[in-house]
Amino acid sequence: MKLWGGRFTKEENQLVHNFNASITFDQKFYHQDIQGSIAHVTMLAKQAIITDAERDTIISALKEICSDIESGKLQITEEYEDIHSFVESVLIERTGDTGKKLHTGRSRNDQVALDMKLYTRDEVLATDELVKELMTTLLDLMKEHIDTYMPGFTHLQKAQPVTLAHHIGAYFEMFKRDRSRLHDIHERMNYCPLGAGALAGTTYPLDREYTASLLGFTGPTLNSMDSVSDRDYLIEYLSALSTIMMHLSRFCEEIILWNSNEYRFIELDDAYSTGSSIMPQKKNPDIAELIRGKTGRVYGALTSLLTTMKGLPLAYNKDMQEDKELTFDAIDTVKGCLALFNGMIKTMHVNKETMAASSKNGFTNATDAADYLVKHGVPFRDAHGIIGQLVLICIDKGIALDDLPLEEYKKISPVFEEDVYEAISMKTCVSLRQTIGAPGHEAMQKVIDINSRYLEEN
Ligand code: ARG
Repeated sequence: MKLWGGRFTKEENQLVHNFNASITFDQKFYHQDIQGSIAHVTMLAKQAIITDAERDTIISALKEICSDIESGKLQITEEYEDIHSFVESVLIERTGDTGKKLHTGRSRNDQVALDMKLYTRDEVLATDELVKELMTTLLDLMKEHIDTYMPGFTHLQKAQPVTLAHHIGAYFEMFKRDRSRLHDIHERMNYCPLGAGALAGTTYPLDREYTASLLGFTGPTLNSMDSVSDRDYLIEYLSALSTIMMHLSRFCEEIILWNSNEYRFIELDDAYSTGSSIMPQKKNPDIAELIRGKTGRVYGALTSLLTTMKGLPLAYNKDMQEDKELTFDAIDTVKGCLALFNGMIKTMHVNKETMAASSKNGFTNATDAADYLVKHGVPFRDAHGIIGQLVLICIDKGIALDDLPLEEYKKISPVFEEDVYEAISMKTCVSLRQTIGAPGHEAMQKVIDINSRYLEEN
């Protein structure tokens, strides 16, 4: 069962075996391990290091092992140290001496570096696909709510009116950057470590370019010591996953606020809410809270791997085995969160009237009221002071600027006329904001068009 028993005189202590083994988690990439071995022997035969017949025997046995694992006919069991030992042992069981040639010119160090890269390379693309699906939902919501007014906030205090499309559009941009990070990582990581051997390459005439191309890599890595000890791409990926979670978490925080009894901007669908065991009236946004909560766990994975790698001398060290569980966990967590978040916002109900009323009653049009005065020749600083006084009067009366009688306006400044109401209406406030990136209908439509094209092309 051991790949390395030869120079040992004692059986491994059971606790040592358990502590050292990785099979409970690295079996996750049995498929990639077999895929890498098939490429390796294909190259070995091309280089006449093994015969074509040996290659064919090994490849068909490897394919059979793969389908037997998939069908459940072959169980991956824990007496093996890792997935590499398992596959090689079963291969030797099934093919005898021929199978013993598989590991020619290869080490588990370059093998595991390859397997992890193959596994995460697919996951980077799968993550990207899920972010894209979420962005499609966001774009649909932006189209639907291009004229849904809501207050924009700074310091969580009502600031100026925006639209729901504009607010959601902010997240669209964040997720666009997330996708671009994933693409960069994919490009940078896409070099094949196989052939690096344990650390110093091998004396066999391996064709590393050929193996790299068989496995869909841009090319081989260029330093064998770096190849077996590089985990940068995992750190980058975990960092990109952490940023995605940070974005989801901020969005969840807003969903939780908007869904609260105080805001009532939205109502989450029953299918995405949960109840209380004691309080019959409760409908809680647990899913949004849990996504916000799981963010800590993904950050933890990033911090953990950075710490593991810090201070490791070249080349391979067993510490690096710690890269796996946390990376797998972070990937599964983020993928789950993306899918759930998408379903949650797809099904939420938007209370347009509540949102619009809220943007009206918080003096979000105070800047526009000041601008009205500026347009009538009042210097901005004076206008700011005048509107400040009017806001104070309104707070006292418990009304909005829109509801203050014209006489009251005129008492503070004679410049005001009947057209002030039109000038400070929600519709005017939003529709005059037409610079690119602003919430005005036409400006927003332009961005929606650009982003529709982006989703078609990327
Ligand atoms: N399970 C090991 C890992 O995940 C595989 C590489 C083992 N190499 C070694 N020299 N012990 O890193």
